[in-house]
Amino acid sequence: MKTHTLLMPLDMHIHFRDGVMLQRVAPLTSYCFSGAVVMPNLVPPVTTLEALKAYKQRIKNAIGDGGEDLDEMSVDAFEPFMTLFYKNYDRDFLESVADEIIAIKLYPDGATTNSDGGVKNFDIEVMRETLETMSELDIPLCVHGESNGFVMDREAEFMSVYETLAQNFPDLKIIMEHITTKDAVDMLDKYPNLYATITVQHLLITLDDVAGGMLAPHLFCKPIAKRPEDRDALLKVALNAHPKVMFGSDSAPHPQHAKESCGCAAGVFTAPIALQVLCELFDKHDKLDNLQSFISDNAQSIYSVCPEFKEVILEESDFVVPAKYGDVVPMYAGKTLKWSIEEVL
Ligand code: DOR
Ligand code: ZN
Repeated sequence: MKTHTLLMPLDMHIHFRDGVMLQRVAPLTSYCFSGAVVMPNLVPPVTTLEALKAYKQRIKNAIGDGGEDLDEMSVDAFEPFMTLFYKNYDRDFLESVADEIIAIKLYPDGATTNSDGGVKNFDIEVMRETLETMSELDIPLCVHGESNGFVMDREAEFMSVYETLAQNFPDLKIIMEHITTKDAVDMLDKYPNLYATITVQHLLITLDDVAGGMLAPHLFCKPIAKRPEDRDALLKVALNAHPKVMFGSDSAPHPQHAKESCGCAAGVFTAPIALQVLCELFDKHDKLDNLQSFISDNAQSIYSVCPEFKEVILEESDFVVPAKYGDVVPMYAGKTLKWSIEEVL
């Protein structure tokens, strides 16, 4: 049987939520990843040191309990990398939180789930003090890069904001989160301080999969999947282990009723299938050897993190994706994947 080992997988963009949902989803990630960058878009968003520390503790508690799907599996070696929701913070505050966070996440106001209170207009002068201090303290800025224009053009329209940020703050590490377009891929090589995460779904699907036939609510997310040429540009940099590109699932669980509804919530739940799907995809393209860079090594270099040891052994054997995890429907529910997780050490 063909196997493939991944060392210290990292998910550089995840939504763990809170309460019952947190209990349900966090163990699915901590089981097979060494760490994950936890998004702050709770209600209300995480904006204080107190809230951040309390949330981190709730995550650790949720992981400790293992969850009912994973009873006998080891959940020890996992680090939740915490983020704050971007506001204009002053220097004293940033100095006090610098050791507790891996990054600050910027949402344009209203751009996606729980992003109210985000940035309303990108006036660099208003943001300068915060962004300059972040770059001095070496706190990266993670960005949800979408304008409020036509849905298919939102990411492309945001490129000018990335350029302004990259030029004005050359020492600030800026992560273009969950990129979906060739325009964003092209930006990577234009500015040394721009990096990107890419999700599983955006390597696989286009808008046709979401809305070209019967509407597929479980594939609907923000930014929405784009054109085949965009998907192919993303695939090219991921498969070839572009050093500025990292895996970030953007796994975003919503209860089934919130997805299968006349107002479908944005978010694709991929935490329990991500490694298996990526193995299948990289293997199909004969690029399995590059998966380690995409899944961990690039992120370790970009963020200067040294994750907890974990070895995940995958094998080429069928994995039937469960119909649901609690009341959350995962991507590819009921489908058979070609790779499964054999063991986690
Ligand atoms: O589809 C999305 N869902 N995109 C985001 O940026 C946020 C996420 C969520 O929190 O549900
Ligand atoms: Zn997200």
